[in-house]
Amino acid sequence: MSAETTPSDPTLPRHVGIIMDGNGRWATERNLRRTRGHQEGVEAAKRVVIELEKLGVEFLSLYAFSTENWRRTEEEVSFLMALVARNLRDHYDFYRENRIRLHHSGDLAGLPPDVRAEIAAVTRDTEGYSGIQVNLAVNYGGRNEIIRAFKRWGDRGDADLTEQTLASFLDLPQFPDPDLIIRTGGEQRISNFLLWQSAYSEWIFSPKLWPDWCDEDVRAAIAEYQHRVRNFGGDR
Ligand code: IPE
Ligand code: IPE
Ligand code: MG
Repeated sequence: MSAETTPSDPTLPRHVGIIMDGNGRWATERNLRRTRGHQEGVEAAKRVVIELEKLGVEFLSLYAFSTENWRRTEEEVSFLMALVARNLRDHYDFYRENRIRLHHSGDLAGLPPDVRAEIAAVTRDTEGYSGIQVNLAVNYGGRNEIIRAFKRWGDRGDADLTEQTLASFLDLPQFPDPDLIIRTGGEQRISNFLLWQSAYSEWIFSPKLWPDWCDEDVRAAIAEYQHRVRNFGGDR
């Protein structure tokens, strides 16, 4: 069952984003195929979701596949698509036991039909769960999301174009902007993740490869966030 949560703790990030990077290198270092690293990455994601839920974080965005990741080999791309579909389907007990509600962000139209079907099923079937809300970003790109938001705004045509109205046409307007974004795997770049929403996010770059992430890493990242002073452009 889900652990007790403390959503009222104002020092906690409400929304954490994670760029889960380093799966391929993790596997290559062990003379394994890159795909094996992606499998281990799923296990890391489960550990991290549980720890964040225990700490009382309400929203989590996991970057699983970018709009640029189609540039990889056919073998890796089809493995990743199958991995997403299979894991969405096979983890219903995990979602139920931990009260995890799943959402998707990204360009659904560009995904294979079986992946789209699993996304539709899992988001519907976990709708009533009241624990951590997890956004799985699959075929997600920040620029692509902003373009699609503009198109939706144009189709409705009745609202003034303000920051608030455009934000309301993004994929998950019910998610607050991420307070903290973690990138694992040593690179220090945004790689098209949550471009609009990250305007005032705090960033933590970790050299550790994603499959090695465990609950202590999560606690250390949250503790580091709690020492940051956020300013939002104001005077101090
Ligand atoms: C992140 O790990 C997972 C995806 C992008 C799907 P990578 O596959 O990018 O791993 P590295 O960066 O090559 O080690
Ligand atoms: C970012 O990682 C995308 C995901 C983790 C899903 P990449 O490995 O694709 O990023 P780059 O290519 O190193 O910038
Ligand atoms: Mg990478």
